[in-house]
Amino acid sequence: MSSPVSARLPVFPWDRLEPYKRTAVAHPDGIVDLSVGTPVDPVPELVRRALAAAADSPGYPTVWGTVELRDALTAWGERRLGARGLTHRHVLPVVGSKELVAWLPTQLGLGPGDKVAYPRLAYPTYEVGAKLAGAEPVAYDDPTELDPAGLRLLWLNSPSNPTGRVLGKDELARAVAWAREHGVLLLSDECYLELGWETEPVSVLHPDVCGGSHEGIVAVHSLSKRSNLAGYRAAFLLGDPAVLGELLQIRKHGGMITPAPVQAATVAALGDEAHVAEQRARYAARRAALRAALEGGGFRVEHSEASLYLWATRDEPCWDTVAELAGRGILVAPGDFYGEAGARFVRVAFTATDERVEAAVKRLG
Ligand SMILES: Cc1ncc(COP(=O)(O)O)c(C=O)c1O
Repeated sequence: MSSPVSARLPVFPWDRLEPYKRTAVAHPDGIVDLSVGTPVDPVPELVRRALAAAADSPGYPTVWGTVELRDALTAWGERRLGARGLTHRHVLPVVGSKELVAWLPTQLGLGPGDKVAYPRLAYPTYEVGAKLAGAEPVAYDDPTELDPAGLRLLWLNSPSNPTGRVLGKDELARAVAWAREHGVLLLSDECYLELGWETEPVSVLHPDVCGGSHEGIVAVHSLSKRSNLAGYRAAFLLGDPAVLGELLQIRKHGGMITPAPVQAATVAALGDEAHVAEQRARYAARRAALRAALEGGGFRVEHSEASLYLWATRDEPCWDTVAELAGRGILVAPGDFYGEAGARFVRVAFTATDERVEAAVKRLG
């Protein structure tokens, strides 16, 4: 086969972690895997019940979702994000946010000659999305210093994976104003918005940021982290109806449909805040324990004011840290998975059970 698309993509980095995983697994008390941000706590009971109640779903669901789902999305956006004036035209379900990040440039018709920009340290799928479309990926330190020529799509990610950094209202507003001035579509990946620890993350759709207009901006949200639903593939977009209307057409033709039971489960999950508070409390305790253990063990933690990660360094190459911790049975992600700027950091996820976090704390002591 000539020029396979996969040849455009970066090497899948997790394969490089495998030897360290084998070392960590060999620890007499087993591995503590803090390398990935995958939820480990139960799916909330009310969400499971909603999924089961919708199990008899023989017909095709719609890409736009049920009326109940669209109502739930607009209500949540107004209540939780402070967005105003959301209608059904301002929402679009997606099949987990990763597929959206990866395929958005393609679905918007971007290609050679177009640019897609994302933070210097970032979730790798922004780059993958640009490359799948044949567009040029561009990493930035400050989005307002980008060259707007050819730039079609600007990604923000606050709270950030991997650093846990949160952009304040002013920084967000400046990025929105710059993107509008230059006619660049702004996508704000806010999938960790519910996980602020030292600050309250703000959505790009908040009127103080967007000025009450949704023009040229789209926020990306996911239930994977908020509601322990990574296994359900439940996420959605909120924002500019012109953009979402176009995506709806394309995704209808492409059959990118959220399964009906998952749509029903999403309605239940968005209507409940109690399970979110409960899950936050679990993460807060794990975060505090791991942070104290890391700092006691000679690490410096930077940013990390939100999200599911501690961004930590011992001022040495990240792979040295990964190797040393693997020897103690703890697996973490090397910072260079997220860009060269992370080469002296590791990302420590607190998505492990209390028992495993306790084991990690002992081993770091
Ligand atoms: C910044 C960011 N965006 C998007 C995703 C994708 O999440 P999901 O596909 O589960 O919605 C992740 C997952 O870790 C992430 O860290």
